[in-house]
Amino acid sequence: MTPADLLPQTLPARIARFPFPFPRDEYRYTANVQPAPAFEPTVVGGWGDTVVEVDEHYLAELEERAEILAEDPERSITLPHMKAAAWDAVLYTLQGFADARPDVARLSIDGDRVRWENDLLNTAIEFVVGDESTLPLDPLTWVGTQVQEDICLLDQREGHLWLDAGLVTFAADWSLAFDIGMSFLEFHGPVPRVHEAGVMPAAEQFLMRLTPEQAYRRTNWTLTIDRRMDVSTEKYDVWGKDRRLLTLEEVGERVHLRVEVQHLVRLPVSGAVMFYIRSSMLPMHELLLVPEWAARARAVIEELPEDMADYKGIARYRHLVVQWLDAQLEADDPQSAAEAA
Ligand code: HEM
Repeated sequence: MTPADLLPQTLPARIARFPFPFPRDEYRYTANVQPAPAFEPTVVGGWGDTVVEVDEHYLAELEERAEILAEDPERSITLPHMKAAAWDAVLYTLQGFADARPDVARLSIDGDRVRWENDLLNTAIEFVVGDESTLPLDPLTWVGTQVQEDICLLDQREGHLWLDAGLVTFAADWSLAFDIGMSFLEFHGPVPRVHEAGVMPAAEQFLMRLTPEQAYRRTNWTLTIDRRMDVSTEKYDVWGKDRRLLTLEEVGERVHLRVEVQHLVRLPVSGAVMFYIRSSMLPMHELLLVPEWAARARAVIEELPEDMADYKGIARYRHLVVQWLDAQLEADDPQSAAEAA
């Protein structure tokens, strides 16, 4: 019998399909890219069999995105030379959605004419590729009304990649408006360790060699207090203070493991590199339903070097998370419960 056999058979999809990111008890930065899509089994299920992922938060997240954009239109930026890339992203993304959810979505393409039906939103629309007047919004903003993914588009020129377009409403502690126009090495400037290790130039070279429609993926992670999708630099005044005020009793409900599944694709027509960021969160009390995950996350969070913890913004409260997980794991462990009795 494996540990998974002991788990409830009816775990909700947000746990069964959660992209748990830690293969070991310690975490360091590496390129960690692998071909996509490819199903990655976990002890309770698995993830990654599709490039676009639709989950139980679909409607809520799209609504939230619309509100964020209404308040701050700069969360979506397409520099003029990226218009072709934005159309490319629209078609690739709708196809990805239709492939992932043929039960609710249909895409048909006839030359430049496209028909898109999405039953989850009761959308049926026809548009002409290259003619913005046939969509209700600019292409990149519009496609963000259909999928939960944040999208960045990178132009390749002068031997580098440039972040020249994006629709990013759910940034984890960065700002699209600040980073727009920067090169791959520039916008990764604040990340500790990777520069000395040469990780970023190697990753950029790898991305520049992608061939049309080739897709890879990687994961990234952090902790977020409350299920707050928008932890952008712009909103720091709203969420930043939570890191100081968090108490031990609140850890289970409020601290979430936030995982970004990031897909990297060479778009076929424009040649741009597309970067999807799909953020999923599990609160600590749900992580505990999979004791292996709770134990591993605890080990990683405790062992993480201080400069990385600082960069991820968890240095102030990670000891509370470790303390809380320790207490819960001990209480759940029959042997230590017997010893305590
Ligand atoms: C091409 C698409 C990519 C884009 C648009 C992108 C963008 C970003 C941004 C905006 C940040 C936050 C930087 C900040 O603190 O201001 C970041 C962090 C990071 N990126 Fe990328 N990235 C891309 C690809 C990659 C790749 C291929 C790697 C592989 C080495 C990578 C590794 C990292 C790492 C290690 C961090 C720090 C994450 C953390 O500890 O939370 N990125 N990226």
